[in-house]
Formats: sequence, structure tokens, C-alpha cells
Amino acid sequence: MKVIGSVKEDLSEEKRIAITPDIVKKITDLQLSIFLEKNYGTHLGINDEEYKNKGVNFCNSAKEVLEKSEIVLRVNCPSDNEVGLIKDKSVLIGQFDNLSDKEVINKLIEKDIKIFSLSLLPRITRAQTMDVLSSQANLAGYRAVIESIEEFGKVVPMMMTAAGTITPAKFLIIGAGVAGLQAIATAKRLGGIVTATDVRTTTKEQVESLGGKFLSVDGVENLETNTGYAKEADENFKKKQEELLKNSVEKNDIIICTALIPGKKAPRIISEDMVKSMKSGSIVYDLAVNQGGNSAFSEADKINVINGVKVMGAKNILNSIALTASSLYAKNLFNFVNNLYDDKKKDILINEEDEIIKKTLIDKKL
Ligand code: NAI
Repeated sequence: MKVIGSVKEDLSEEKRIAITPDIVKKITDLQLSIFLEKNYGTHLGINDEEYKNKGVNFCNSAKEVLEKSEIVLRVNCPSDNEVGLIKDKSVLIGQFDNLSDKEVINKLIEKDIKIFSLSLLPRITRAQTMDVLSSQANLAGYRAVIESIEEFGKVVPMMMTAAGTITPAKFLIIGAGVAGLQAIATAKRLGGIVTATDVRTTTKEQVESLGGKFLSVDGVENLETNTGYAKEADENFKKKQEELLKNSVEKNDIIICTALIPGKKAPRIISEDMVKSMKSGSIVYDLAVNQGGNSAFSEADKINVINGVKVMGAKNILNSIALTASSLYAKNLFNFVNNLYDDKKKDILINEEDEIIKKTLIDKKL
């Protein structure tokens, strides 16, 4: 029986886990045995007993788990120290970054470890159940609205009371991709008035179907590639977008920034002047903070207050909803393992004809 293992990650950076109790049976049904490090999920309120009752084995240290594991599941890239502990020729599956994890990835390749990065999944129908970027961004969009409201000193929905009427909060969502659409839905559910904008004009219909108003940059082409992602905007577009947003920004109470162009630095959309034009007490939540930020003044894990406007963004917003995020992440990971695993041979089969396997495999030095 092959061993699939997972160890605790650095809790100061990552609270999500790769194997949750709900996927244990699915994994053991594949005739794989599971080994986890002691206290693997205790920080999330999942004790070892809960796993043990489902058939999971525990080791006292990460070293012991990794010595046994032919398949290692993770959220993030292993640390430099862990590389030496992972068995040569094993399989490592997680969400890795070709740029920031390059050195570690190259060391793993020297050990002939087959690395599968779910960050490289093609966005095709068959891969949807494995799509960690979407499952996590969807939750990030939800949580960005919740965290913004926690910092906002007012209520969101309209309320008509004997003491007077409270006007609803106004939200502007920049970027209507996965995170943006969930931010729109969440703000609407809570009673906000929502406007959204995107460079892909095809998102207009989606925004409107969620009850949002779409803000179009007029007289410009639809900046969408044939794979459905955004193209970088040219100077003409940026100027027109700036004019359009200048008027809108100052009228809104909460701005959620989610604009992204894959593989590029985040486009700067909210300028210093725009932040300064907002009413005191307003919020800018920048989900793109790790890619350089869509907004001026945004810094990871800080709340910068500019003329009473709070500009914020978390390095890893999923840590504050780590149970739900882990649950979806682990299911995505299981679906990936299931696609890779050959039931008859009881082994991982690297079938290069399979687009999902081919696109996610890193088997050469970067
Ligand atoms: P996505 O690719 O689905 O959506 C991005 C959207 O931005 C697309 O619809 C695109 O057309 C639009 N866009 C690009 N340039 C634009 C511009 N100049 N103006 C207006 N719209 C523009 O990406 P997804 O998955 O929704 O992620 C959004 C952001 O959230 C990313 O930066 C991602 O890294 C971040 N994120 C951050 C997390 C955190 O913990 N900080 C967690 C998860 C996601």
C-alpha cells in the first residue's frame, strides 16, 4: 500500500491544511494509507482522534511522516529544511509559485521528485473540481467584504427606524473575476448598493445577474484573451478608466480591489488622489496586495489610515476562514490525486496525454 502523507506548515504563515477528515475515506478507498504529523489539525479544532477514528496513522514528527510518504500533500511549498526530508522520487502536490519557490523547486527536482502545482491547472471544465485558485479566490472575495465591514463604522443595509432612515452602504468592486463576483454577491446579500467594473466587457452580464451595476469604460475594446483572462490595458484605456473611476470612487463607502492579469504585477487603479477624495470612514480592501496592489497606500497585513480612509489587505486572507478554505482545498486536492491515481496499478500514473497532468507537472529545473 502506498503512503500519502502531510505535515504541519508554518502556522504563522498558513493555517490551512491539505488533508481534512472529510477526504480521509475517499483517499483510503483508493487503497492509499495516510500518515499525518501529531497535532496536524488541532489549531483548527480538529483533534488527532477524529482522524484516527477514520483510519489515519500519526507520527510524532514531520521527519517520520516524510520518510514514509511516497505522495506528499501540502498547501504551500516546503521549506528549505524540509526538502532534505522528502523521499527521493516521491510525488509532491500543492500550490507552488514558480517565481518565489524557484530555489526550493530546483532542489526538489535534483531529488527526482515529481512536483505537481495546482497553481498551474488549466481552467478547463474537467479541472473545475480541482481548481484551487477559484475555490480559494471565491472565499477571499467573501471574506474581503466581511473584513471591510468590520472596519467600517456604519451598517450596510438600509434601515427605516423611528429615529430616522439609515442609507445603505455603497460598494465598488474593481475586477469581476472569481473573487470580485463573490464580493458583489456578498455585498448585495448584506444589503449594499453595488457597482463593479472590469476590463472584460463580457463580465457585465454576470455583474448584472448578481444585482450589481456595471461601470463600462466606453469606446474601448474588450480586453479578454481567448483563454478568458484579462489582457493588459494600454495608456488610452488606463486614462479613460481613471476618468470614469475618479467620479465613482468618491461616492462609494467600500472599495474591494481584485484586478489581476495572470503572471503580471497588479494594475494600479486607485491612485493616491482617489483615496484622498473618499469620505472619512470609507474602506479600500486590496486583495491584490501581494502582487503590488491595485490601490495606493495598500500594504500587506496593515491598515493605513489616509484622511480617515482605511486602506487594508491581508497577505493570506484565507487564514481567517481556514476551516472552510481547507475543506474546499482538500477536496480539490483529492480530485487531483484521484485523476492521477491508477486504481488497477495502485500507483500514480503520469500520463502526459492528460492535459491536467501535463500542465501541472514540474519535472525540470526552472
Ligand atoms: P481573476 O483572474 O478571476 O479575476 C481578476 C479580474 O480582474 C478579471 O476579471 C480581470 O478581467 C480583471 N481585471 C484585470 N485588469 C483590470 C483592470 N485594469 N481594471 C478592472 N479589472 C481588471 O482573479 P481572482 O482569482 O478573482 O483573484 C483576484 C485577486 O485576489 C488576485 O490578485 C489574487 O491573487 C487575489 N487573492 C488574494 C488572496 C489573499 O489572501 N490576499 C487570496 C485569494 C486571491
